[in-house]
Amino acid sequence: MTREQKIEELRRRQAEAEVGGGEERRAQQHADGKLSARERILLLFDEGTFEEIDKLVEHNCQDFGMAEQRIPGDGVVSGCGRITGRLTYAFAQDFTVFGGSLSGANAAKICKVMDLAMKVGAPVVGLNDSGGARIQEGVASLAGYADIFLRNTLASGVIPQISAIMGPCAGGAVYSPAITDFTLMVKDSSYMFVTGPDVIKTVMHEDVSKEDLGGSMTHNATSGVAHFIARDDADCLALIRELLSFMPQNNHEDPPRVETRDPIDRRDEALDTLIPIEPDKPYDIKEIFTRVVDDGHFLEVHEHFAKNLVVGLARLGGQSVGIVANQPAFLAGCLDINASVKGARFVRFCDAFNIPLITFEDVPGFLPGTQQEYGGIIRHGAKLLFAFAEATVPKITLITRKAYGGAYCVMASKHLRTDVNLAYPTAEIAVMGPEGAVNIVYRRELQKAEDPDAMRREKAEEFRQRFANPYIAAERGWVDAVIEPRDTRSRLIAALRMLETKRDTLPPKKHGNIPL
Ligand code: HXC
Repeated sequence: MTREQKIEELRRRQAEAEVGGGEERRAQQHADGKLSARERILLLFDEGTFEEIDKLVEHNCQDFGMAEQRIPGDGVVSGCGRITGRLTYAFAQDFTVFGGSLSGANAAKICKVMDLAMKVGAPVVGLNDSGGARIQEGVASLAGYADIFLRNTLASGVIPQISAIMGPCAGGAVYSPAITDFTLMVKDSSYMFVTGPDVIKTVMHEDVSKEDLGGSMTHNATSGVAHFIARDDADCLALIRELLSFMPQNNHEDPPRVETRDPIDRRDEALDTLIPIEPDKPYDIKEIFTRVVDDGHFLEVHEHFAKNLVVGLARLGGQSVGIVANQPAFLAGCLDINASVKGARFVRFCDAFNIPLITFEDVPGFLPGTQQEYGGIIRHGAKLLFAFAEATVPKITLITRKAYGGAYCVMASKHLRTDVNLAYPTAEIAVMGPEGAVNIVYRRELQKAEDPDAMRREKAEEFRQRFANPYIAAERGWVDAVIEPRDTRSRLIAALRMLETKRDTLPPKKHGNIPL
Protein backbone atom coordinates (compact mmCIF):
# COMPACT_ATOMS: atom_id res chain seq x y z
CA MET A 1 0.00 0.00 0.00
CA THR A 2 1.24 3.45 -0.76
CA ARG A 3 1.15 6.20 1.88
CA GLU A 4 -1.82 7.75 0.02
CA GLN A 5 -3.66 4.40 -0.01
CA LYS A 6 -3.07 4.00 3.73
CA ILE A 7 -4.50 7.42 4.44
CA GLU A 8 -7.40 6.61 2.10
CA GLU A 9 -8.07 3.41 4.07
CA LEU A 10 -8.14 5.33 7.37
CA ARG A 11 -10.58 7.85 5.91
CA ARG A 12 -12.81 5.09 4.57
CA ARG A 13 -13.02 3.38 7.96
CA GLN A 14 -13.66 6.65 9.75
CA ALA A 15 -16.41 7.57 7.31
CA GLU A 16 -18.03 4.18 7.79
CA ALA A 17 -17.96 4.72 11.55
CA GLU A 18 -19.63 8.11 11.09
CA VAL A 19 -22.50 6.56 9.13
CA GLY A 20 -23.10 3.70 11.60
CA GLY A 21 -25.94 1.43 10.47
CA GLY A 22 -26.54 3.37 7.27
CA GLU A 23 -28.55 6.32 5.97
CA GLU A 24 -31.82 4.43 5.86
CA ARG A 25 -31.72 3.43 9.53
CA ARG A 26 -30.55 6.90 10.50
CA ALA A 27 -33.53 8.41 8.64
CA GLN A 28 -35.79 6.03 10.58
CA GLN A 29 -34.20 7.19 13.83
CA HIS A 30 -35.02 10.79 12.89
CA ALA A 31 -38.53 9.80 11.78
CA ASP A 32 -39.00 8.29 15.26
CA GLY A 33 -38.21 11.70 16.74
CA LYS A 34 -34.75 10.64 17.90
CA LEU A 35 -31.33 12.12 17.23
CA SER A 36 -28.45 9.91 16.11
CA ALA A 37 -25.81 8.84 18.62
CA ARG A 38 -23.32 11.33 17.20
CA GLU A 39 -25.81 14.20 17.18
CA ARG A 40 -26.53 13.48 20.83
CA ILE A 41 -22.85 13.49 21.74
CA LEU A 42 -22.37 16.83 19.98
CA LEU A 43 -25.27 18.39 21.90
CA LEU A 44 -24.10 16.96 25.20
CA PHE A 45 -20.60 18.46 25.10
CA ASP A 46 -19.36 22.02 24.77
CA GLU A 47 -18.83 22.75 21.10
CA GLY A 48 -15.70 21.23 19.58
CA THR A 49 -14.52 19.49 22.76
CA PHE A 50 -15.42 15.85 22.08
CA GLU A 51 -12.49 13.47 21.65
CA GLU A 52 -13.60 10.09 20.34
CA ILE A 53 -11.96 6.88 21.52
CA ASP A 54 -12.07 3.48 19.77
CA LYS A 55 -13.76 4.73 16.64
CA LEU A 56 -12.37 1.82 14.68
CA VAL A 57 -13.22 -1.03 17.05
CA GLU A 58 -15.15 -3.86 15.40
CA HIS A 59 -16.84 -6.94 16.82
CA ASN A 60 -15.21 -10.35 16.36
CA CYS A 61 -18.32 -12.52 16.20
CA GLN A 62 -18.14 -15.17 13.47
CA ASP A 63 -21.59 -16.73 13.91
CA PHE A 64 -24.90 -16.10 12.16
CA GLY A 65 -23.29 -14.29 9.23
CA MET A 66 -21.89 -11.63 11.52
CA ALA A 67 -18.37 -11.83 10.05
CA GLU A 68 -19.67 -10.02 6.97
CA GLN A 69 -21.44 -7.34 8.99
CA ARG A 70 -18.70 -5.42 10.73
CA ILE A 71 -19.15 -1.70 11.24
CA PRO A 72 -16.30 0.42 12.65
CA GLY A 73 -17.28 1.64 16.12
CA ASP A 74 -19.61 -1.36 16.52
CA GLY A 75 -22.67 0.57 17.60
CA VAL A 76 -21.37 2.81 20.34
CA VAL A 77 -19.71 6.24 20.20
CA SER A 78 -17.45 6.79 23.21
CA GLY A 79 -14.95 9.32 24.46
CA CYS A 80 -14.63 12.46 26.53
CA GLY A 81 -15.22 16.17 26.28
CA ARG A 82 -16.12 19.23 28.34
CA ILE A 83 -19.45 20.11 29.90
CA THR A 84 -19.42 23.78 30.91
CA GLY A 85 -15.65 23.47 30.81
CA ARG A 86 -15.40 20.38 33.01
CA LEU A 87 -14.05 17.04 31.80
CA THR A 88 -16.73 14.38 31.37
CA TYR A 89 -16.69 10.90 29.81
CA ALA A 90 -19.63 9.57 27.80
CA PHE A 91 -20.84 6.80 25.55
CA ALA A 92 -23.82 6.85 23.20
CA GLN A 93 -25.32 3.63 21.89
CA ASP A 94 -26.17 3.73 18.18
CA PHE A 95 -29.55 2.08 17.57
CA THR A 96 -28.83 1.93 13.83
CA VAL A 97 -26.15 -0.71 14.43
CA PHE A 98 -27.83 -4.01 15.42
CA GLY A 99 -30.38 -2.08 17.45
CA GLY A 100 -27.68 -0.61 19.71
CA SER A 101 -27.29 -4.12 21.13
CA LEU A 102 -24.33 -4.81 23.36
CA SER A 103 -21.50 -6.88 21.92
CA GLY A 104 -18.32 -7.92 23.67
CA ALA A 105 -16.44 -5.31 21.66
CA ASN A 106 -18.69 -2.37 22.38
CA ALA A 107 -18.91 -3.37 26.05
CA ALA A 108 -15.11 -3.14 26.13
CA LYS A 109 -15.36 0.39 24.69
CA ILE A 110 -17.81 1.40 27.41
CA CYS A 111 -15.61 -0.17 30.09
CA LYS A 112 -12.60 1.71 28.73
CA VAL A 113 -14.22 5.13 29.20
CA MET A 114 -15.46 4.11 32.64
CA ASP A 115 -11.96 3.02 33.66
CA LEU A 116 -10.48 6.27 32.39
CA ALA A 117 -13.15 8.30 34.20
CA MET A 118 -12.34 6.49 37.44
CA LYS A 119 -8.60 7.06 37.01
CA VAL A 120 -8.94 10.80 36.46
CA GLY A 121 -11.99 11.36 38.67
CA ALA A 122 -14.56 12.62 36.17
CA PRO A 123 -18.29 11.88 35.68
CA VAL A 124 -19.61 9.35 33.17
CA VAL A 125 -22.75 9.90 31.11
CA GLY A 126 -24.38 6.97 29.31
CA LEU A 127 -26.79 7.66 26.46
CA ASN A 128 -28.70 4.39 26.18
CA ASP A 129 -30.64 3.24 23.14
CA SER A 130 -30.30 -0.53 22.98
CA GLY A 131 -32.06 -3.82 22.38
CA GLY A 132 -29.97 -5.41 25.16
CA ALA A 133 -27.47 -8.23 24.81
CA ARG A 134 -26.49 -8.84 21.17
CA ILE A 135 -28.24 -12.11 20.55
CA GLN A 136 -25.73 -13.40 17.97
CA GLU A 137 -22.85 -13.15 20.47
CA GLY A 138 -24.31 -15.23 23.29
CA VAL A 139 -22.24 -15.30 26.44
CA ALA A 140 -19.74 -12.71 25.14
CA SER A 141 -22.44 -10.05 25.29
CA LEU A 142 -23.64 -11.20 28.72
CA ALA A 143 -20.03 -11.01 29.91
CA GLY A 144 -19.88 -7.49 28.51
CA TYR A 145 -22.88 -6.47 30.58
CA ALA A 146 -21.46 -7.96 33.74
CA ASP A 147 -18.17 -6.09 33.10
CA ILE A 148 -20.16 -2.83 32.91
CA PHE A 149 -22.24 -3.59 36.01
CA LEU A 150 -19.09 -4.25 38.01
CA ARG A 151 -17.65 -0.89 36.97
CA ASN A 152 -20.92 0.91 37.70
CA THR A 153 -20.87 -0.57 41.18
CA LEU A 154 -17.22 0.22 41.90
CA ALA A 155 -17.66 3.78 40.57
CA SER A 156 -20.80 4.36 42.66
CA GLY A 157 -20.07 7.11 45.17
CA VAL A 158 -16.68 7.83 43.56
CA ILE A 159 -17.67 9.63 40.34
CA PRO A 160 -21.15 10.86 39.33
CA GLN A 161 -22.83 8.50 36.86
CA ILE A 162 -25.81 9.61 34.81
CA SER A 163 -27.92 7.50 32.44
CA ALA A 164 -30.23 8.80 29.77
CA ILE A 165 -32.74 6.42 28.23
CA MET A 166 -33.23 7.66 24.68
CA GLY A 167 -34.91 4.75 22.97
CA PRO A 168 -35.91 1.20 23.81
CA CYS A 169 -33.77 -0.30 26.56
CA ALA A 170 -34.47 -3.96 27.05
CA GLY A 171 -32.92 -6.78 29.07
CA GLY A 172 -29.45 -6.05 30.37
CA ALA A 173 -29.66 -2.48 29.04
CA VAL A 174 -31.72 -1.45 32.06
CA TYR A 175 -29.47 -2.65 34.85
CA SER A 176 -26.53 -0.38 34.27
CA PRO A 177 -28.81 2.71 34.46
CA ALA A 178 -30.39 1.28 37.60
CA ILE A 179 -27.02 1.32 39.40
CA THR A 180 -26.12 4.87 38.31
CA ASP A 181 -27.02 8.00 40.28
CA PHE A 182 -29.72 9.40 38.01
CA THR A 183 -31.82 8.07 35.15
CA LEU A 184 -33.51 10.38 32.66
CA MET A 185 -36.11 9.22 30.15
CA VAL A 186 -37.29 10.94 26.97
CA LYS A 187 -41.07 11.28 26.64
CA ASP A 188 -42.74 9.12 23.96
CA SER A 189 -39.53 7.56 22.63
CA SER A 190 -37.92 5.72 25.52
CA TYR A 191 -38.80 2.44 27.22
CA MET A 192 -37.22 0.31 29.91
CA PHE A 193 -38.15 -3.25 30.66
CA VAL A 194 -36.46 -6.46 31.70
CA THR A 195 -38.82 -8.43 29.44
CA GLY A 196 -40.96 -6.85 26.74
CA PRO A 197 -44.73 -7.09 26.10
CA ASP A 198 -44.38 -10.18 23.86
CA VAL A 199 -42.64 -12.25 26.53
CA ILE A 200 -45.14 -11.07 29.13
CA LYS A 201 -47.98 -12.16 26.87
CA THR A 202 -46.45 -15.60 26.39
CA VAL A 203 -45.49 -16.26 29.99
CA MET A 204 -48.09 -14.37 32.00
CA HIS A 205 -50.94 -14.17 29.42
CA GLU A 206 -51.06 -10.46 30.18
CA ASP A 207 -51.65 -7.75 27.59
CA VAL A 208 -49.71 -4.56 28.13
CA SER A 209 -48.48 -1.86 25.77
CA LYS A 210 -44.82 -0.83 25.57
CA GLU A 211 -45.72 2.59 26.97
CA ASP A 212 -47.70 1.23 29.92
CA LEU A 213 -45.10 -1.39 30.70
CA GLY A 214 -41.99 0.72 30.57
CA GLY A 215 -42.69 4.18 29.17
CA SER A 216 -41.27 7.36 30.62
CA MET A 217 -44.27 8.14 32.83
CA THR A 218 -44.50 4.56 34.11
CA HIS A 219 -40.96 4.79 35.41
CA ASN A 220 -41.13 8.41 36.57
CA ALA A 221 -44.44 8.18 38.40
CA THR A 222 -45.15 4.53 39.22
CA SER A 223 -41.98 2.47 39.58
CA GLY A 224 -39.61 5.29 40.53
CA VAL A 225 -36.90 3.73 38.33
CA ALA A 226 -36.40 7.05 36.48
CA HIS A 227 -35.77 10.44 38.08
CA PHE A 228 -36.45 12.83 35.22
CA ILE A 229 -38.65 13.03 32.14
CA ALA A 230 -37.46 15.10 29.18
CA ARG A 231 -39.58 16.52 26.35
CA ASP A 232 -37.19 15.34 23.64
CA ASP A 233 -33.55 14.40 23.08
CA ALA A 234 -32.27 17.99 23.14
CA ASP A 235 -34.14 18.71 26.37
CA CYS A 236 -32.70 15.53 27.91
CA LEU A 237 -29.12 16.48 27.04
CA ALA A 238 -29.61 20.02 28.38
CA LEU A 239 -30.97 18.52 31.60
CA ILE A 240 -27.88 16.34 32.00
CA ARG A 241 -25.65 19.39 31.62
CA GLU A 242 -27.63 21.21 34.29
CA LEU A 243 -27.67 18.25 36.64
CA LEU A 244 -23.89 17.91 36.43
CA SER A 245 -23.45 21.61 37.24
CA PHE A 246 -24.53 20.90 40.83
CA MET A 247 -22.04 18.08 41.32
CA PRO A 248 -18.33 17.82 42.00
CA GLN A 249 -16.15 15.88 39.56
CA ASN A 250 -15.65 13.13 42.13
CA ASN A 251 -16.05 12.30 45.81
CA HIS A 252 -12.81 14.05 46.79
CA GLU A 253 -13.97 17.42 45.53
CA ASP A 254 -16.62 19.90 46.56
CA PRO A 255 -19.30 20.96 44.07
CA PRO A 256 -18.37 24.08 42.08
CA ARG A 257 -19.25 27.40 43.70
CA VAL A 258 -21.28 29.69 41.45
CA GLU A 259 -21.36 33.50 41.60
CA THR A 260 -24.82 34.69 42.58
CA ARG A 261 -26.39 38.11 42.38
CA ASP A 262 -29.16 37.05 44.76
CA PRO A 263 -28.31 38.93 48.00
CA ILE A 264 -27.35 36.66 50.87
CA ASP A 265 -29.34 38.78 53.32
CA ARG A 266 -32.48 38.99 51.14
CA ARG A 267 -35.49 39.04 53.45
CA ASP A 268 -38.88 37.80 52.31
CA GLU A 269 -41.75 39.01 54.44
CA ALA A 270 -44.28 36.92 52.51
CA LEU A 271 -42.76 33.86 54.23
CA ASP A 272 -44.16 35.08 57.55
CA THR A 273 -47.72 34.30 56.47
CA LEU A 274 -47.32 31.42 54.02
CA ILE A 275 -47.55 28.61 56.58
CA PRO A 276 -51.24 28.23 57.54
CA ILE A 277 -51.90 28.59 61.23
CA GLU A 278 -54.39 25.68 61.03
CA PRO A 279 -52.33 22.51 61.54
CA ASP A 280 -54.23 20.46 58.95
CA LYS A 281 -54.42 23.02 56.16
CA PRO A 282 -52.25 22.06 53.19
CA TYR A 283 -49.72 24.37 51.57
CA ASP A 284 -47.02 23.89 48.95
CA ILE A 285 -43.62 23.45 50.59
CA LYS A 286 -41.97 24.22 47.23
CA GLU A 287 -43.36 27.73 47.49
CA ILE A 288 -41.53 28.15 50.78
CA PHE A 289 -38.09 26.96 49.76
CA THR A 290 -38.06 28.36 46.22
CA ARG A 291 -38.47 31.79 47.84
CA VAL A 292 -35.32 31.06 49.83
CA VAL A 293 -32.83 29.51 47.37
CA ASP A 294 -30.71 31.49 44.88
CA ASP A 295 -32.88 33.05 42.15
CA GLY A 296 -35.75 30.73 43.10
CA HIS A 297 -34.12 27.99 41.04
CA PHE A 298 -34.78 24.39 42.05
CA LEU A 299 -34.00 21.28 40.01
CA GLU A 300 -36.51 18.73 41.24
CA VAL A 301 -35.50 15.07 41.27
CA HIS A 302 -38.24 12.40 41.08
CA GLU A 303 -40.87 15.09 40.55
CA HIS A 304 -43.65 12.65 39.70
CA PHE A 305 -42.86 9.91 42.22
CA ALA A 306 -43.86 9.94 45.92
CA LYS A 307 -44.95 13.55 45.79
CA ASN A 308 -45.37 13.62 49.57
CA LEU A 309 -41.60 14.12 49.80
CA VAL A 310 -39.86 16.66 47.58
CA VAL A 311 -36.16 16.23 46.81
CA GLY A 312 -33.86 18.12 44.49
CA LEU A 313 -30.91 20.42 43.97
CA ALA A 314 -30.58 24.16 44.41
CA ARG A 315 -27.97 26.72 45.46
CA LEU A 316 -27.71 28.88 48.53
CA GLY A 317 -25.20 31.71 48.37
CA GLY A 318 -23.75 30.01 45.28
CA GLN A 319 -23.24 26.69 47.04
CA SER A 320 -24.94 23.48 45.83
CA VAL A 321 -27.40 22.02 48.33
CA GLY A 322 -29.66 18.99 48.35
CA ILE A 323 -33.17 19.78 49.53
CA VAL A 324 -35.37 17.20 51.22
CA ALA A 325 -38.84 18.47 52.13
CA ASN A 326 -42.10 16.98 53.34
CA GLN A 327 -44.96 18.13 51.11
CA PRO A 328 -48.10 18.99 53.13
CA ALA A 329 -49.99 19.47 49.86
CA PHE A 330 -49.79 15.72 49.13
CA LEU A 331 -50.88 12.99 51.58
CA ALA A 332 -50.49 15.70 54.25
CA GLY A 333 -46.72 15.20 53.89
CA CYS A 334 -46.80 11.74 55.55
CA LEU A 335 -43.82 9.48 55.04
CA ASP A 336 -44.72 6.27 53.22
CA ILE A 337 -42.70 3.49 51.59
CA ASN A 338 -42.02 5.28 48.32
CA ALA A 339 -41.18 8.59 49.96
CA SER A 340 -38.75 6.89 52.34
CA VAL A 341 -36.93 5.07 49.56
CA LYS A 342 -36.84 8.19 47.39
CA GLY A 343 -35.51 10.30 50.24
CA ALA A 344 -32.94 7.75 51.37
CA ARG A 345 -31.41 7.39 47.93
CA PHE A 346 -31.19 11.15 47.44
CA VAL A 347 -29.65 11.71 50.87
CA ARG A 348 -27.01 9.07 50.15
CA PHE A 349 -26.26 10.63 46.76
CA CYS A 350 -25.71 14.06 48.36
CA ASP A 351 -23.61 12.56 51.13
CA ALA A 352 -21.42 10.67 48.67
CA PHE A 353 -20.73 13.84 46.66
CA ASN A 354 -20.25 16.40 49.41
CA ILE A 355 -23.50 18.24 48.81
CA PRO A 356 -24.89 19.70 52.08
CA LEU A 357 -28.42 18.66 53.02
CA ILE A 358 -31.17 21.10 53.89
CA THR A 359 -34.33 19.49 55.29
CA PHE A 360 -37.65 21.34 55.40
CA GLU A 361 -39.86 19.46 57.82
CA ASP A 362 -43.63 19.38 58.15
CA VAL A 363 -44.60 15.79 58.79
CA PRO A 364 -47.58 14.34 60.68
CA GLY A 365 -45.93 10.89 60.86
CA PHE A 366 -45.67 7.68 58.88
CA LEU A 367 -48.69 6.78 56.74
CA PRO A 368 -50.77 4.23 58.66
CA GLY A 369 -52.52 1.20 57.14
CA THR A 370 -52.21 -2.45 56.21
CA GLN A 371 -50.94 -1.65 52.72
CA GLN A 372 -47.97 0.17 54.18
CA GLU A 373 -47.32 -2.36 56.94
CA TYR A 374 -47.55 -5.36 54.59
CA GLY A 375 -45.36 -3.54 52.10
CA GLY A 376 -42.66 -3.18 54.73
CA ILE A 377 -42.86 0.45 55.85
CA ILE A 378 -40.76 -0.54 58.86
CA ARG A 379 -37.91 -1.70 56.66
CA HIS A 380 -38.28 1.08 54.10
CA GLY A 381 -38.81 3.88 56.60
CA ALA A 382 -35.63 2.71 58.31
CA LYS A 383 -33.72 3.42 55.09
CA LEU A 384 -34.39 7.13 55.37
CA LEU A 385 -33.48 7.10 59.05
CA PHE A 386 -30.28 5.20 58.27
CA ALA A 387 -29.35 7.53 55.42
CA PHE A 388 -29.77 10.72 57.45
CA ALA A 389 -27.94 9.25 60.44
CA GLU A 390 -25.04 8.02 58.33
CA ALA A 391 -24.60 11.23 56.31
CA THR A 392 -21.52 13.24 57.25
CA VAL A 393 -22.06 16.27 55.00
CA PRO A 394 -23.27 19.51 56.60
CA LYS A 395 -26.87 18.90 57.67
CA ILE A 396 -29.37 21.65 58.43
CA THR A 397 -33.03 21.10 59.32
CA LEU A 398 -35.83 23.64 59.50
CA ILE A 399 -39.16 22.62 61.09
CA THR A 400 -41.85 24.73 59.46
CA ARG A 401 -44.88 23.19 61.20
CA LYS A 402 -45.41 19.59 62.31
CA ALA A 403 -42.67 17.29 63.53
CA TYR A 404 -44.61 14.38 64.92
CA GLY A 405 -43.62 10.98 66.22
CA GLY A 406 -41.05 8.74 64.58
CA ALA A 407 -40.98 11.10 61.64
CA TYR A 408 -39.54 13.80 63.94
CA CYS A 409 -36.63 11.49 64.67
CA VAL A 410 -36.18 10.44 61.04
CA MET A 411 -36.24 13.85 59.35
CA ALA A 412 -32.67 14.82 60.23
CA SER A 413 -33.39 15.58 63.88
CA LYS A 414 -30.62 16.82 66.15
CA HIS A 415 -30.33 13.30 67.53
CA LEU A 416 -29.11 12.02 64.12
CA ARG A 417 -26.10 14.37 64.45
CA THR A 418 -27.66 17.13 62.39
CA ASP A 419 -25.51 20.22 62.75
CA VAL A 420 -28.03 23.03 62.78
CA ASN A 421 -31.72 22.56 63.69
CA LEU A 422 -33.98 25.55 63.23
CA ALA A 423 -37.73 26.00 63.71
CA TYR A 424 -40.35 28.54 62.79
CA PRO A 425 -42.55 29.85 65.63
CA THR A 426 -45.35 27.78 64.00
CA ALA A 427 -43.47 24.51 64.65
CA GLU A 428 -45.20 21.76 66.64
CA ILE A 429 -43.11 18.94 68.05
CA ALA A 430 -45.02 16.07 69.67
CA VAL A 431 -45.32 12.32 69.81
CA MET A 432 -48.55 12.58 67.82
CA GLY A 433 -51.35 15.03 66.97
CA PRO A 434 -53.44 16.28 69.96
CA GLU A 435 -56.62 14.39 68.95
CA GLY A 436 -54.82 11.05 68.66
CA ALA A 437 -52.98 11.66 71.94
CA VAL A 438 -56.21 12.41 73.85
CA ASN A 439 -57.91 9.27 72.55
CA ILE A 440 -55.10 7.15 73.95
CA VAL A 441 -54.19 8.94 77.16
CA TYR A 442 -57.79 9.66 78.29
CA ARG A 443 -59.48 6.54 76.91
CA ARG A 444 -60.94 5.44 80.27
CA GLU A 445 -62.04 8.95 81.24
CA LEU A 446 -63.65 9.48 77.82
CA GLN A 447 -65.66 6.25 78.16
CA LYS A 448 -67.10 7.48 81.46
CA ALA A 449 -67.53 11.16 80.50
CA GLU A 450 -71.00 12.70 80.21
CA ASP A 451 -69.97 14.68 77.15
CA PRO A 452 -66.98 12.87 75.59
CA ASP A 453 -66.72 15.28 72.66
CA ALA A 454 -66.45 18.31 74.94
CA MET A 455 -63.82 16.52 77.00
CA ARG A 456 -61.95 15.51 73.88
CA ARG A 457 -61.88 19.14 72.69
CA GLU A 458 -60.79 20.45 76.08
CA LYS A 459 -57.98 17.90 76.51
CA ALA A 460 -56.82 18.32 72.92
CA GLU A 461 -56.48 22.05 73.53
CA GLU A 462 -54.43 21.29 76.65
CA PHE A 463 -52.12 19.09 74.57
CA ARG A 464 -51.90 21.71 71.87
CA GLN A 465 -50.97 24.41 74.39
CA ARG A 466 -48.29 22.19 75.87
CA PHE A 467 -46.68 20.68 72.77
CA ALA A 468 -47.72 22.69 69.71
CA ASN A 469 -44.66 24.91 69.79
CA PRO A 470 -40.91 24.63 69.28
CA TYR A 471 -39.93 25.86 72.72
CA ILE A 472 -39.67 22.61 74.67
CA ALA A 473 -37.17 21.35 72.07
CA ALA A 474 -35.42 24.73 72.01
CA GLU A 475 -35.12 24.69 75.83
CA ARG A 476 -33.40 21.29 75.60
CA GLY A 477 -31.08 22.42 72.79
CA TRP A 478 -32.59 20.03 70.20
CA VAL A 479 -33.67 23.07 68.22
CA ASP A 480 -30.77 25.53 68.06
CA ALA A 481 -32.84 28.59 67.21
CA VAL A 482 -36.41 29.62 66.54
CA ILE A 483 -36.28 31.99 63.59
CA GLU A 484 -38.62 34.40 61.89
CA PRO A 485 -39.63 32.98 58.51
CA ARG A 486 -38.63 36.19 56.70
CA ASP A 487 -35.00 35.54 57.70
CA THR A 488 -34.83 31.97 56.40
CA ARG A 489 -32.40 32.64 53.56
CA SER A 490 -29.81 34.50 55.59
CA ARG A 491 -30.03 32.01 58.46
CA LEU A 492 -29.55 29.00 56.18
CA ILE A 493 -26.64 30.59 54.36
CA ALA A 494 -25.03 31.57 57.69
CA ALA A 495 -25.38 27.96 58.86
CA LEU A 496 -23.86 26.65 55.62
CA ARG A 497 -20.90 29.03 55.88
CA MET A 498 -20.38 28.03 59.50
CA LEU A 499 -20.24 24.36 58.44
CA GLU A 500 -18.03 24.87 55.40
CA THR A 501 -15.05 23.04 56.85
CA LYS A 502 -17.07 20.31 58.57
CA ARG A 503 -15.37 16.94 58.81
CA ASP A 504 -17.21 13.99 60.32
CA THR A 505 -16.63 10.26 60.04
CA LEU A 506 -18.21 6.88 60.61
CA PRO A 507 -16.72 4.20 62.86
CA PRO A 508 -14.25 2.04 60.89
CA LYS A 509 -16.16 -0.71 59.08
CA LYS A 510 -16.31 -2.43 55.72
CA HIS A 511 -19.74 -0.94 55.12
CA GLY A 512 -22.99 -0.58 57.01
CA ASN A 513 -25.97 -2.82 56.40
CA ILE A 514 -28.71 -0.41 55.32
CA PRO A 515 -32.07 -2.26 55.50
CA LEU A 516 -32.54 -2.83 51.76
C1 HXC B 1 -29.16 -8.20 18.03
C2 HXC B 1 -30.91 -6.75 17.73
C3 HXC B 1 -31.25 -6.86 19.11
C4 HXC B 1 -30.45 -7.71 19.92
C5 HXC B 1 -32.63 -5.51 18.18
N1 HXC B 1 -31.79 -5.91 17.19
N2 HXC B 1 -32.34 -6.08 19.34
N3 HXC B 1 -29.87 -7.42 17.22
N4 HXC B 1 -29.42 -8.35 19.33
N5 HXC B 1 -30.69 -7.84 21.22
C6 HXC B 1 -31.79 -5.50 15.79
C7 HXC B 1 -32.98 -6.01 15.01
O1 HXC B 1 -32.69 -7.28 14.51
C8 HXC B 1 -33.08 -4.95 13.92
O2 HXC B 1 -32.12 -5.22 12.93
C9 HXC B 1 -32.66 -3.69 14.61
O3 HXC B 1 -31.92 -4.09 15.76
C10 HXC B 1 -33.82 -2.85 15.06
O4 HXC B 1 -34.72 -3.66 15.80
P1 HXC B 1 -36.29 -3.63 15.55
O5 HXC B 1 -36.87 -4.78 16.28
O6 HXC B 1 -36.56 -3.51 14.09
O7 HXC B 1 -36.68 -2.25 16.25
P2 HXC B 1 -37.99 -1.87 17.11
O8 HXC B 1 -39.21 -2.36 16.42
O9 HXC B 1 -37.84 -0.43 17.40
O10 HXC B 1 -37.85 -2.70 18.47
C11 HXC B 1 -36.77 -2.48 19.33
C12 HXC B 1 -36.71 -3.53 20.44
C13 HXC B 1 -36.75 -4.94 19.79
C14 HXC B 1 -37.92 -3.34 21.39
C15 HXC B 1 -35.44 -3.30 21.25
O11 HXC B 1 -35.76 -5.02 18.79
C16 HXC B 1 -36.48 -6.04 20.78
O12 HXC B 1 -37.40 -6.45 21.51
N6 HXC B 1 -35.25 -6.54 20.77
C17 HXC B 1 -34.87 -7.66 21.64
C18 HXC B 1 -34.82 -7.25 23.07
C19 HXC B 1 -34.29 -8.33 23.91
O13 HXC B 1 -35.03 -9.23 24.32
N7 HXC B 1 -32.93 -8.32 24.10
C20 HXC B 1 -32.19 -9.35 24.76
C21 HXC B 1 -32.39 -9.17 26.23
S1 HXC B 1 -31.53 -10.31 27.16
P3 HXC B 1 -32.30 -4.80 11.39
O14 HXC B 1 -31.14 -5.42 10.71
O15 HXC B 1 -33.63 -5.36 10.99
O16 HXC B 1 -32.28 -3.32 11.38
C22 HXC B 1 -30.35 -9.43 27.87
C23 HXC B 1 -29.63 -10.24 28.86
C24 HXC B 1 -28.70 -9.42 29.69
O17 HXC B 1 -30.14 -8.32 27.60
C25 HXC B 1 -28.97 -9.68 31.11
C26 HXC B 1 -28.01 -9.02 32.01
C27 HXC B 1 -28.57 -8.92 33.42
